[in-house]
Amino acid sequence: MTLTELAVACRTYRRFTQEEVPQELLAMMVENARISNSAMNMQPLRYTVVRDPELVAGMQPLVHWAAKLPKEIGTPKEGEQPTAFIVIATEGRETPYTNIDVGIAVRTMTLTACEGGVGSCIMGNVNVKKVQELLDMPESWTPKLVLALGYPDHASVVVDLPENGDTSYYVNEDRDYFVPKRSQEDIILWR
Ligand SMILES: Cc1cc2nc3c(=O)[nH]c(=O)nc-3n(C[C@H](O)[C@H](O)[C@H](O)COP(=O)(O)O)c2cc1C
Repeated sequence: MTLTELAVACRTYRRFTQEEVPQELLAMMVENARISNSAMNMQPLRYTVVRDPELVAGMQPLVHWAAKLPKEIGTPKEGEQPTAFIVIATEGRETPYTNIDVGIAVRTMTLTACEGGVGSCIMGNVNVKKVQELLDMPESWTPKLVLALGYPDHASVVVDLPENGDTSYYVNEDRDYFVPKRSQEDIILWR
């Protein structure tokens, strides 16, 4: 896939087949993030890759899905849940750029996953304290985002914003996702 094709395909997925994500792909996601741009090249990011089935099961209740949808629609049920997680944390002094580094890394990782056919959901609504405890993370690490991962079991497409400008994503009867995006005209100033 070209980068442009990846940008289209790399949507949020919230239901997954239960096929395991290969360790090599998880390692490649972190590798591509490892060499990403970093403000002042401080490289404050640390990663916890969660593959152990017991820990993966332990993560499930600590992340919160799809704020825009009823729980029974947006939250994956057993048999649909992610099969791996990566927790992105920071260590050391925070600067105004730390979270920008997090954003660059997480997108690098989701694109790498997508290249390998794996879907992801970036998750900010997370019980951070419990994640830290479950994974026995060093106290000097501050979790910032969780990536939920697995082979997608639904479709997701970008659509135009409706007339009323509502950006809420929605699903059809098959629980496939439709994700409204603002038009270029609405977001670019050409000078
Ligand atoms: C920083 C960030 C935090 C997010 N947190 C959550 C979350 O906690 N739970 C969830 O289900 N989706 C979460 N999402 C996914 C967004 O809802 C999703 O990106 C958005 O609906 C647009 O869909 P798309 O990724 O397919 O373009 C998050 C996305 C980002 C970028």
